[in-house]
Amino acid sequence: MKIVFSMGGSIIAPDNIDQSFVGRASDFLIKLSKSNTLAVVVGGGAPARRRIVEAREKGASEAECDYVGILATRENAKALIDALDRNSNQGIPESVRDAVKSFGSNILVMGGTEPGHSTDAVAALLAEWTKADLLINASNVDAVYDKDPRKFKDAKPLKSVRIDDLIRLLEGQSVAAGQYPLLDPTSLKLIKRSSIRTIVLDGRNLPNMADAISGKKFSGTEVTF
Ligand code: UTP
Repeated sequence: MKIVFSMGGSIIAPDNIDQSFVGRASDFLIKLSKSNTLAVVVGGGAPARRRIVEAREKGASEAECDYVGILATRENAKALIDALDRNSNQGIPESVRDAVKSFGSNILVMGGTEPGHSTDAVAALLAEWTKADLLINASNVDAVYDKDPRKFKDAKPLKSVRIDDLIRLLEGQSVAAGQYPLLDPTSLKLIKRSSIRTIVLDGRNLPNMADAISGKKFSGTEVTF
């Protein structure tokens, strides 16, 4: 299978880069790559958010703040590349077009590309472009909920969600730099227009992720069309 991961910075760099998780994720990916073609788009996490706040305080434009976030995503991507192979001189693609060219050889790892969206959009575009079989949104959010779990205590996790309902659920959330929703609007448009098979799950639970990939019962949400 061809799989694209949108790996949340929230799990790679919840505070600073979590080398222990990066090591475990790298072992997981290496094993998975024996029988699958993989690409991982890494998010910015706490370092991105801290730097975006600083930049905003200094009067940076939103696009500039996004760019500061992009640089942080690439640092996180580099940490994963180093864990996968310290001797690799694999560069980090800075556009999806460049990424497409190297998709298939090694495990492709990259961060953000352009301001105006989050790494979810990068992963969705890469999945669309390469006709990937599966897009996995792996962050510290374990599922899509029927309402915002930060606001409602009785919010329930959904096993599956129709794309139009997901778009409605996430509508109106912030799209400021560093504050994009669980899946950003651009990624939702791409997922919808190409019916990209998409799963949302807690990326820290690697055995659960393995179950999802191998078609077993898993904890998380599948997007339906
Ligand atoms: P993300 O928001 O994708 O990181 O990128 P994240 O930490 O993984 O977010 P979660 O865990 O999914 O919530 C960090 C920031 O970098 C900028 C945005 O400002 C984004 O919020 N960015 C990232 C871009 O502007 N363009 C990109 O292609 C990627």
